[in-house]
Amino acid sequence: MHPSNFDLFADRETEQQPRAEQIGEQSWLLRGFALPLIEQLLPALESILLAAPLRHMMTPGGFSMSVGTSSCGALGWITDRTGYRYSSVDPLSGSPWPALPPVFAELAHSAATRAGFAGFDADSCLINRYVPGAKMSLHQDKDEKAYAAPIVSLSLGLPAMFLFGGFNRSDKSQRIALLHGDMLIWGGVDRLRFHGVLPIKQGRHPRLGEQRINLTFRVAG
Ligand code: SIN
Ligand code: FE2
Repeated sequence: MHPSNFDLFADRETEQQPRAEQIGEQSWLLRGFALPLIEQLLPALESILLAAPLRHMMTPGGFSMSVGTSSCGALGWITDRTGYRYSSVDPLSGSPWPALPPVFAELAHSAATRAGFAGFDADSCLINRYVPGAKMSLHQDKDEKAYAAPIVSLSLGLPAMFLFGGFNRSDKSQRIALLHGDMLIWGGVDRLRFHGVLPIKQGRHPRLGEQRINLTFRVAG
């Protein structure tokens, strides 16, 4: 947290903050939480994607992912035929991933705090771009070294139907419609819940066009 920017979030860290919906014992949906910062977030995202372009990575099973993926921060999540893991370099360029912009770090910290996870300090931000039809199958986030820190996720652009499941793939999932600027935080006892995204529907978002972008902030290393 950069103390000089703390006041940006001060009003949104109070108990009066509206629309914090509890979706699990330690899981929260913060509707529109990122909207006040959107005009700072989008240009920062754009510069990251110039340095580390989106690409369709290969799963260990040999399938190309329907989402386009990139990362910023000290560690980026990658997958190829040898497996899922974090890497400090972008395999496309051989260079370190772009740095995590301060506005990203501060937003993630602030959202985590609001959800009851103080001191969140992301070292990784995964960027997933969904065009209509793209989806994310049910999975657990478990490539991180430890699970003490929550997952902090930001949705941008087209709406998505997010599946928030249990601890077994076959457990019934809650369906949560995620909109531009919404944030979802799950950690603690909920950290290893299965989750996924149904195929994105055709549409055009006024700011982002025919796409949804999800940023997932994690402590990976
Ligand atoms: C993910 O779990 O990796 C992505 C979730 C999302 O796009 O909302
Ligand atoms: Fe995930």
